[in-house]
Amino acid sequence: MDRYHTLYRASIDTPEAFWAEQAKRIPWLRPPSITLTYDELGHARWFGDGELNICHAALDHHVEQGRGEQAALHWDSSVTDARATLSYRQLRDRVAHVAGALAQLGVEKGDRVVIYMPMIPEALIAMYACARLGAVHSVVFGGFAPHELAVRIDDAEPKVLLTASCGIEVTTVLPYKPLVDEAIAQSQHKPNACVVLQREACLATLGENDLDWMTLERSAPFAECVAVKATDPLYVLYTSGTTGKPKGVMRDTGGYAVALAFSMATIYALEAGDVMFTASDVGWVVGHSYIVYGPLLHGCTTVMYEGKPVKTPDAGSFWRLIERYGVKSFFSAPTAFRAIKKEDPEAKWLKAFDLSSLKHVFVAGERLDPPTFHWLDDLLDVPVIDHWWQTETGWPVAANMVGVEPMATKAGSASVPVPGFNVQVVDRDGEQVPPMTQGSIVIKQPLPPGCLSGIWRDPQRFHAAYMAAFPGYYLTGDGGYVDPDGYLFIMGRTDDVINVAGHRLSTGEMEEVLGSHPAVAECAVIGIHDELKGQLPVGLVITKDGFAGDETSLEAELVAQVRQRIGPVACFKQVLVVERLPKTRSGKILRKLLRTIADGKPYRVPSTIDDPTSLDDMQQLMSERAVGLADRALRED
Ligand code: COA
Ligand code: AMP
Repeated sequence: MDRYHTLYRASIDTPEAFWAEQAKRIPWLRPPSITLTYDELGHARWFGDGELNICHAALDHHVEQGRGEQAALHWDSSVTDARATLSYRQLRDRVAHVAGALAQLGVEKGDRVVIYMPMIPEALIAMYACARLGAVHSVVFGGFAPHELAVRIDDAEPKVLLTASCGIEVTTVLPYKPLVDEAIAQSQHKPNACVVLQREACLATLGENDLDWMTLERSAPFAECVAVKATDPLYVLYTSGTTGKPKGVMRDTGGYAVALAFSMATIYALEAGDVMFTASDVGWVVGHSYIVYGPLLHGCTTVMYEGKPVKTPDAGSFWRLIERYGVKSFFSAPTAFRAIKKEDPEAKWLKAFDLSSLKHVFVAGERLDPPTFHWLDDLLDVPVIDHWWQTETGWPVAANMVGVEPMATKAGSASVPVPGFNVQVVDRDGEQVPPMTQGSIVIKQPLPPGCLSGIWRDPQRFHAAYMAAFPGYYLTGDGGYVDPDGYLFIMGRTDDVINVAGHRLSTGEMEEVLGSHPAVAECAVIGIHDELKGQLPVGLVITKDGFAGDETSLEAELVAQVRQRIGPVACFKQVLVVERLPKTRSGKILRKLLRTIADGKPYRVPSTIDDPTSLDDMQQLMSERAVGLADRALRED
């Protein structure tokens, strides 16, 4: 691991020199002379006086360099049986006209634009069009309900909202426009206009403030790129925290571009002209970084897939696309591979395709559990690489850096810290723990380029949520340990964030929804283990004294309420009315213990518990109601 160690040490010992060198990967409009400064709260600011436009760096620059006829984007929709390829020039031109249309609608540098779209080329075009004008985009995942969209509209205050008439989930056409209309009706802030891309599967009825996307794009002028400062925000991406209010993670422009370009070469081992297929969604950070920005900054071709790993039409979708487009690096979430494994355990589909172009498979979004790792590793002739990151970091914190030198993989480990990330494992007092001891995972400041630059409109929350727990360190919210070889094992969140099918959700937010029901006195939502989706939320509620209704109807009502307020993506399907919840003497609900009981694992009764008999009741109820039982049976098979 000599080359890796040399690179890593340089990044930690001399971060300024290291990142000044990496910054040369980007075609700046004005190269930075300053590399690293700190703001008043001590947070890193990268390339302060540099100027660029990321749309220029990812599109125009490549056209100017002779890459104009190379495919920039292959779009493949298995749910509509449609495909399209756009060259760098074609993509640049479409982006420039959509930017022109946005400019005509009054969008200027610094304005926000909310994007609520399915996985179609126009979603990527929309993001670049905003970037071209220096406007800040905020993409909201389509699986979120109108209420969640409204919360984000109120926080981001967009001038314009961009959407499509529908999304398609397996075989169901989901009209988006009624959801958008409902969100705008609920929000205090009203965008000036809503631009709708009409899809054949379902045409939306346009209202007074609605405009047809293609009519606008066709008649709009070609907009040039607007130079922005490296520290200007490129986007705000909302993610779940521990409270009901999502956090608007802010990403700067210059540091992000440098970090992504660095990662494309060193982590993903790709060169200009190579093909990357990231099977995620533009609504998540993985989509932002490795469907939209990373591959194109690096002169690669990106594959955008509208469909699921299974059932659209079969468990061979990923392998089919890898063959079809000559994919070199493929990236998805472990849950997607578990879904494939379930449908096609013998991997018949995989064997039906020529995967000779494939050099690496990357996974993230949740820990790559050892059984799924071994299944994939045995089947594929290429390294299967688990790498760990978060919306906040924007790019991987730990990985097997195959672009620097391949390392041995260890099942269950995300490998080693990526250059720039000084990762440490600490105890409650912030003291570093010895290898193989579990603790909180923190990153010593300065965070490298590409990481969050703040929480939108809330600098104090940024500081309080991430920087205050251990001064001088960023709190990741993940727990785990490091082994004697320096490999990191990320074992799960230490807070109320859960991970459902690679989607990050807040149990606190679900508790707020349950708690708002007039019949509910108290509640807890826990994430229990699920063989396919990693975790699933389960609600436990105590009704108010005097509640005389039917418990089964109440449970169904609460399930519907979470779906309606948060969205189908929450996969919230089980609520149990309980007599009491296990608590400490100071009244804190013992959520971790509840999780352990639901997962059928052995537990120790904590000395601080108020009433130990509450645990027996809970165990009995969970067993009667089969909480997690199907999953446990699968695990024992
Ligand atoms: N728009 C609208 N609804 C959506 C949606 C979207 N973009 N994405 C998901 N949903 C809905 C689904 O239709 C489903 O609704 P239902 O309750 O009516 O069935 C619900 O949200 C849950 O969806 P999902 O979690 O995707 O479950 P699934 O059973 O349809 O698929 C997997 C399971 C594992 C195949 C799928 O979750 C998957 O591919 N996950 C990978 C996620 C990923 O790539 N994450 C990014 C991190 S790298
Ligand atoms: P998100 O912000 O949606 O990308 O989710 C980030 C969270 O997902 C992390 O804090 C982890 O809890 C989890 N996660 C992502 N990738 C991994 C991984 N490779 N190993 C373990 N956990 C992961």
